[in-house]
Amino acid sequence: MSFTLERVSHRYVTDSGEAVHALADTDLVVDPGQFVCVVGPSGCGKTTLLRILAGFLTPTGGVAKVDGDPITGPSWERGVVFQHANLFPWLTVRKNVELGLKFRGVDAKTRRQTAEEVLALVGLEGFGDHKTYELSGGMQQRTQIARVLANDPQIILMDEPFGALDALTRERLQSDLLQISRERRKTVFFITHSVEEAIILGDRVLVMSPRPGRVVLDQPVAISQAYGRPLPAAELRNTPEFAELRERVSGAITADTR
Ligand SMILES: Nc1ncnc2c1ncn2[C@@H]1O[C@H](COP(=O)(O)OP(=O)(O)OP(=O)(O)O)[C@@H](O)[C@H]1O
Ligand SMILES: [Mg+2]
Repeated sequence: MSFTLERVSHRYVTDSGEAVHALADTDLVVDPGQFVCVVGPSGCGKTTLLRILAGFLTPTGGVAKVDGDPITGPSWERGVVFQHANLFPWLTVRKNVELGLKFRGVDAKTRRQTAEEVLALVGLEGFGDHKTYELSGGMQQRTQIARVLANDPQIILMDEPFGALDALTRERLQSDLLQISRERRKTVFFITHSVEEAIILGDRVLVMSPRPGRVVLDQPVAISQAYGRPLPAAELRNTPEFAELRERVSGAITADTR
């Protein structure tokens, strides 16, 4: 699935009646299977953009489309992963993962099979009967990803999903996510504050300007292609191309001076 933004902009109105111009006119085309990372200063409209793509928010200007059709609301075909796992603590890991399928009327046997499959995919085999509060932060994020994968969405929207994790857990989840998104040919829209994470994961890195946000740099990442094979993150980080891209992307991020 592809998605396009045509002059999409957004202005919020706060409770006190003040208008906040969060997103400036934004045009974007993301092809099926692309992994797009978004970086930019805090408050520049990244989450606003993700909420528009998720269908949680109707932009006040322009049109956001999926496969040519305007987005009119949330859909299981666009799965969302947040920074903090919003799992239901009274349900087991498996029941959390099965929930979307249950809402869609999928039978119990298929739900169970799917849950087992995606839990194995995210490295949580055997944890189905645990309560979510028995899991570490990294395992909760894995559960959140499994819950999205269970629906087999074409597009995965992720808002700083690894931001709250320690470095080691983060690296493991990055490499697992890369493998899963490649194997399952998902289109991924991934927000992060880490330039390095954006370059490691993305086929493309978008840099947004301070509010009202717009895309000021659309940087392709093709380091692995240059080496003729997918480079593991540890190797990628040590290439001169990586350092060069990091400079270029970091240089395009303007500090928010508000
Ligand atoms: N519901 C809302 N009502 C009014 N203003 C809002 C609302 N949600 C967000 N904003 C404002 O819109 C701007 C963009 O917010 P957004 O959450 O999209 O930024 P962000 O780039 O995701 O920031 P961060 O990196 O800190 O998560 C901010 O100035 C924010 O205060
Ligand atoms: Mg945000």
